Amino acid sequence: MTKQAIGVFDSGLGGLTAVRELLSVLPNENIVYFGDTGRVPYGNRSRETIKKYSMQDATFLLTKNVKLIIAACGTASSVAPEIGDNLSVPFTGVVAPTAAAAVRATKNGKIGVIGTTATIKTGSYKREIKKINPNIDVYEQDCPLFVPLVENGFISADDQVVTLVVERYLSSLREADIDTLILGCTHYPIIAEAISKALPNVRLIDSGRETAIYAASLLKESNSLSEDNLKGKCEFYVSDTTEGFSTLAGIFLGRDISGQVSHIDIEDVAKKFKLG
Ligand code: DGL
Repeated sequence: MTKQAIGVFDSGLGGLTAVRELLSVLPNENIVYFGDTGRVPYGNRSRETIKKYSMQDATFLLTKNVKLIIAACGTASSVAPEIGDNLSVPFTGVVAPTAAAAVRATKNGKIGVIGTTATIKTGSYKREIKKINPNIDVYEQDCPLFVPLVENGFISADDQVVTLVVERYLSSLREADIDTLILGCTHYPIIAEAISKALPNVRLIDSGRETAIYAASLLKESNSLSEDNLKGKCEFYVSDTTEGFSTLAGIFLGRDISGQVSHIDIEDVAKKFKLG
């Protein structure tokens, strides 16, 4: 079991925030990543579609014989957490570990949550926070333009387009006097610098990072880590062209991954496993 890879999926680049952390905390692990770049964004789609896509993504990872699946996507984790019930391997989404980290971080008991429209509609993070501490005030805001910005490479905190959009969505949270902000979509840490500029002195909680830390603890507890002397390998799969993804992912991960990215037809996976 131990040599099997960790499977990670997202609608696109966002799940790399979890991969980046996995590479740092578990350097011996093999990782298989699937970014559904042909169908991104998920966050403005219906529950049925998000659930169907997420199940197809997880099923693709199972064909790679992974030992754990991480839905490194706030939208899939919020809208379709039940997909984990039908998988043959352990599964985690991002909501619970991220909410717990935010509760640990807040000092004034005011937490902001930003995510895709689909995520915010579910109230998933708020529910999870209130489960831990009902006295915490939670302020939610959807930011539907953030994912398209990131997927198109608009990530610099010096870019006026980025700062304008960030300001538009986050000004209400500044007024709410939050001291902690959940980046409830895994794409958002990629524009963390711009978000911090708009909300100085607010602690940002990175859903990809917190989930990777949680996944590492799951593997440790179940004795499923790979052996120490292995150097982990990464394979990346996308459902659209490999070029754009390779470039942006390489910048974000700080390494050249161009030879490790392959295209797959996710519709074929759906047909083969009758997940249409
Ligand atoms: N990274 C996904 C999330 O965490 C983005 C969803 C989308 O494609 O809209 O929600």
